[in-house]
Amino acid sequence: MRMRVAVLVLVVSVSLTEAGCVSTSRPHCYKNSTRPEEDFICEWDERNPEKSQTRTLHIWDSEKKQFLTHMNCGKRAQTNILLEQLGITNRKTDIWVQTQVGNLTCNSSKISVILECMVKYSKPQIRRMKRLAGILNLTLDKPKDNKGAKYEIRWRESGSEWQNATFETKDSTEDFYTLHLHYTKIYQIQLRRQAKLQSSLCENSLHALWSDWSLVDVPSEIRRTPVIRWVENNLKNGTRDITLSWDVSMKGTEHTRNAPPDNESVGGVKYNLTLSVWPCTKKQKGMDHLTVTQTYNTSITYSEAWISIFATNNVGSSPRKQIIIPAVKHLNYCDSHMSSNVNNAMKTCLEWYKLEDGETRPRTVNKSPKKSFQDIKNEVENFVRHYYFLHTMKKNHYKTAVMCPFYSKQRAPINGPANVNISDVTHESAVVSWFSIPVVEQRGFLQHYVIWISGQGNTKFHKVSAHKTSFLIKGLHPGASYTISIAGSTEAGTGPNSTVNFETHSKEMGLPWQDRTILIICVVALLCTIICSVAVRRLKLLPEVPSPVLDTTEFRCPEEQDLSQMMEEVHEFVLLLRQDLSEPREDVTPEQGTLLQDFGLVVFEEEDEEDEEGGVTDLSSMTSCCYPNPSYRGQTLQLPEPFYMTDSTSKDNDIESTYRNGLSFETRVLECDKTAPET
Ligand SMILES: *[C@@H]1O[C@H](CO)[C@@H](O)[C@H](O)[C@H]1NC(C)=O
Ligand SMILES: *[C@@H]1O[C@H](CO)[C@@H](O)[C@H](O)[C@H]1NC(C)=O
Ligand SMILES: *[C@@H]1O[C@H](CO)[C@@H](O)[C@H](O)[C@H]1NC(C)=O
Ligand SMILES: *[C@@H]1O[C@H](CO)[C@@H](O)[C@H](O)[C@H]1NC(C)=O
Ligand SMILES: *[C@@H]1O[C@H](CO)[C@@H](O)[C@H](O)[C@H]1NC(C)=O
Ligand SMILES: *[C@@H]1O[C@H](CO)[C@@H](O)[C@H](O)[C@H]1NC(C)=O
Ligand SMILES: *[C@@H]1O[C@H](CO)[C@@H](O)[C@H](O)[C@H]1NC(C)=O
Ligand SMILES: *[C@@H]1O[C@H](CO)[C@@H](O)[C@H](O)[C@H]1NC(C)=O
Ligand SMILES: *[C@@H]1O[C@H](CO)[C@@H](O)[C@H](O)[C@H]1NC(C)=O
Ligand SMILES: *[C@@H]1O[C@H](CO)[C@@H](O)[C@H](O)[C@H]1NC(C)=O
Ligand SMILES: *[C@@H]1O[C@H](CO)[C@@H](O)[C@H](O)[C@H]1NC(C)=O
Repeated sequence: MRMRVAVLVLVVSVSLTEAGCVSTSRPHCYKNSTRPEEDFICEWDERNPEKSQTRTLHIWDSEKKQFLTHMNCGKRAQTNILLEQLGITNRKTDIWVQTQVGNLTCNSSKISVILECMVKYSKPQIRRMKRLAGILNLTLDKPKDNKGAKYEIRWRESGSEWQNATFETKDSTEDFYTLHLHYTKIYQIQLRRQAKLQSSLCENSLHALWSDWSLVDVPSEIRRTPVIRWVENNLKNGTRDITLSWDVSMKGTEHTRNAPPDNESVGGVKYNLTLSVWPCTKKQKGMDHLTVTQTYNTSITYSEAWISIFATNNVGSSPRKQIIIPAVKHLNYCDSHMSSNVNNAMKTCLEWYKLEDGETRPRTVNKSPKKSFQDIKNEVENFVRHYYFLHTMKKNHYKTAVMCPFYSKQRAPINGPANVNISDVTHESAVVSWFSIPVVEQRGFLQHYVIWISGQGNTKFHKVSAHKTSFLIKGLHPGASYTISIAGSTEAGTGPNSTVNFETHSKEMGLPWQDRTILIICVVALLCTIICSVAVRRLKLLPEVPSPVLDTTEFRCPEEQDLSQMMEEVHEFVLLLRQDLSEPREDVTPEQGTLLQDFGLVVFEEEDEEDEEGGVTDLSSMTSCCYPNPSYRGQTLQLPEPFYMTDSTSKDNDIESTYRNGLSFETRVLECDKTAPET
């Protein structure tokens, strides 16, 4: 047993001796600020941290040749030195660290310093950066002692060489620096600082310690205003879920959300979102959210909500964008399904406003967290529609408990419905249509329309639901005139009439269009039949007509009649007769002309016409001689006497020629005619 212990001790001592003593680096001793009451801190680097070692810090007053203090630090790599332990700090001191391993010791190298001058500030922090048009304004935190300091700044575009500059700040003002940069590029900036030591002891700049470097990325400013989109997902029970999304990028579309471009987002982009969903808070106050995502879900009431957002990065903020999510559509009547059970655990908010046209929410609305609907019901203007919301809030859940139009007092509508029209009139029915009375003119909740139908000495009336705009009137009498009066009713009464008159069709007219079409076809067919039959008859008559004319026994014509002339005068066109008849019209009245023209037509068509009594006795003999067709005679008899009897002979030639140009059989008649006046 003893043998074993002895061997163990031997092994340990050998191993320790082999490892030896490794000293630490030189210590760094400093205080955090220039304040005289500041304690000191000493730090060193371990070079052989695994071993169980102890360290002792020695501070030697090299003027007085005595130790100021020994500090046992155990295994730590730093120690605080209280001012009281030192006693004096403005004399030159030597400081080193002694390391002890087992019974071996080794010392680090010494530093010779005046501790009072050993001030090392913390690294500069950038409070604010503001970048605009190539200028970067930097605001830095003050050192702990609130004194001015010397700074060194260096900056570079990514991938380029550092550029550097130094500047000093004053005790009383903010530590502020302006840097000129290319305005679209991304930069990196580093800053460090050192104390400005007043004491003459510290003139040797070796004593001034630089702080550590701080490092920041400098993006370019966000110039675009965010674009906000919102989707209403769920509208029930007085709440609606809203999904907001936004972007500040040119490339963002409806479906993709693009982060800002790299040169704006380096160093991070955050979005400051303000939601005003509770009307009963003060105007500018809303819920603030700072988020790095580009969507946000929330739930809001049925009333208007205001959303505003801006993006921020290290060098500034984008312009602010504000949107209003409009209230849900106004109801025309209260919704009895909305629960109004509001308990004391809930915060409530009453919101109300004038809603004159039933749709347009005014710019300013009244709101109160204290009042109830009963309080405001009688406060508001009479006969004008108002609207109210009662919102509740419970654990940041916003809800509309009730929303409703209301009147403090109602009245009958001020006008009847406009544009009353009658259409689809038949012999027994008609449709009356109208424009619903505008909300402004209703002055109360429209309950129904009343339609009076007056005619045939009596008046009937109908009540029609307020949301209808047409009505079929039935059971009317054919061909009768009616007056329709229509008026709107509220609980306060019935308003003025709008009146329109119309007449029902008579029964015949009332045939349906199919019947009418059939009727028209029948009539057309009938006409066709008549025309055809006449035409057929006419074609048959043409050859028949001349036969009685040529019957010489009928003609009692003078024998001396020139046959050759007669032969020459043969013409076969009725049209020629008509044309030529118009020539001698100088003495013929228009009616006479017409008669003469008729004369030509009648020849063929009206063969059965009864003989008319002879108006001119002298012609009667001639007629019996020359007109085979009795109608000829009839027509001719109507001719005025002078035409044949009293005209001068000079005109006889004309008449003669005219008649010669007539039909072949007529020519003969005319020959007779000519002879008649001569005899
Ligand atoms: C000096 O400042 C640093 C960081 O602010 C702090 O950790 C340290 O304790 C301070 N030293 C003294 C001696 O106050
Ligand atoms: C210290 O070292 C000496 C020899 O250098 C040795 O004799 C002694 O035993 C050691 N002491 C301890 C406690 O190890
Ligand atoms: C280390 O410092 C101590 C204290 O001043 C001294 O006694 C010792 O001799 C020094 N050792 C070496 C190796 O310098
Ligand atoms: C930077 O600071 C200067 C001086 O205080 C000021 O005139 C300028 O507007 C500032 N620029 C920015 C971008 O803040
Ligand atoms: C910039 O840095 C270089 C090297 O570090 C140094 O020599 C020079 O003095 C610095 N210039 C300024 C203005 O600080
Ligand atoms: C509406 O709210 C009531 C009570 O507040 C609840 O009982 C009911 O389930 C809700 N309805 C829906 C569809 O969320
Ligand atoms: C930086 O932003 C500007 C517009 O702000 C753009 O035109 C430019 O291309 C961007 N540069 C880089 C490197 O992203
Ligand atoms: C958002 O911006 C407003 C106004 O600029 C500011 O008062 C608020 O503190 C910001 N919110 C957050 C969470 O930063
Ligand atoms: C927001 O709501 C939508 C739809 O309800 C859902 O798809 C989405 O995941 C939600 N987003 C968050 C961040 O909760
Ligand atoms: C009603 O009749 C008037 C005039 O007759 C006409 O201008 C108007 O367009 C009609 N309105 C409707 C809805 O038919
Ligand atoms: C509207 O017309 C009906 C029927 O003609 C009549 O009874 C009623 O009094 C009229 N109403 C008004 C307000 O003139």
